[in-house]
Amino acid sequence: MRIVHTAVELAEIEPAGSGKKHGRRAVVMTMGALHEGHLALVRAAREAADQVVVTVFVNPLQFDDDADLERYPRDLDADAALLEPLGVDVVYAPSVEDVYPGGAPIVTVSAGTINDVFEGEHRPGHFDGVLTVVLKLMHLTRPDVAYFGQKDAQQVIAIRTMCRDLNVPVDIVAVPTVRDADGLALSSRNVQLSQADRADALVLSRALAEAEEVLAEGGPLSLALTVARAAFAEVPTVTPDYIGAMDPVSAVAVEGDYRGDVVIAVAARVGGTRLIDNVIARVGPREGVADA
Ligand code: PAJ
Repeated sequence: MRIVHTAVELAEIEPAGSGKKHGRRAVVMTMGALHEGHLALVRAAREAADQVVVTVFVNPLQFDDDADLERYPRDLDADAALLEPLGVDVVYAPSVEDVYPGGAPIVTVSAGTINDVFEGEHRPGHFDGVLTVVLKLMHLTRPDVAYFGQKDAQQVIAIRTMCRDLNVPVDIVAVPTVRDADGLALSSRNVQLSQADRADALVLSRALAEAEEVLAEGGPLSLALTVARAAFAEVPTVTPDYIGAMDPVSAVAVEGDYRGDVVIAVAARVGGTRLIDNVIARVGPREGVADA
């Protein structure tokens, strides 16, 4: 496994294969502090591609809160120790100066209306920062395919939309959310939770599971959201930013008597830590199945 820190070194690395028949290169982009969620992406990439590049870069552009950026965990040695046994070929771990020479970029990518809802609404500038770095990292790593986690559902939608709207020739694969045994979605921020916070944080996955159950039994979206909100109301130490449903392709908010596929998404503050989670569900019968 090669660890490189600069775009110049990265550019020198040839794709797998030789001559005209280059192998498929996959990229997994991360901000480090790796856990099993990230590793699931790496394993999926390793299975499908000839060469796997992992990027480790805490992107200041996507942080709307300086304190969050400051306390974000960083440990490249620990990350490399987790990646090596998985057969990763290249780790690109650049400095802020390498990615943004001369400071913040003048030209950036806009997530458009995706900025107006859910994570976009609550974290101004966040998705523009994500898309800008993702596009840059795609240019730097030149992948055929890129792997992202369903844990960040709206991020996947934003990236797919960017690739479609700007003709970025990279396949996007979404990998299901990896959870702890008790249901808590794995996140680099979980290490910031006290023991009490961690117990309280279970309300995120519990509320989503309860909403999912309502929909699985054929209940309406409005009831599923009411049930999820009621679960949060029972844990006053957790402050939700939003509990809602979005169209899985456009991220447009849906509610009431909407029928079809949805992402039910939640974000909440537990102690000083902000956590997000979501599930994909179906409201109403599958196509071709008649209404009962
Ligand atoms: P980061 O939060 O480090 O996550 C890197 C990738 O791992 C993302 O695609 C994320 O969705 C995925 N991931 C995180 N937790 C997961 C879990 N529990 N199960 C499955 N996948 C999980 O997301 C980012 O970094 C950044 O925004 C980035 C795309 C790297 C751009 O800076």
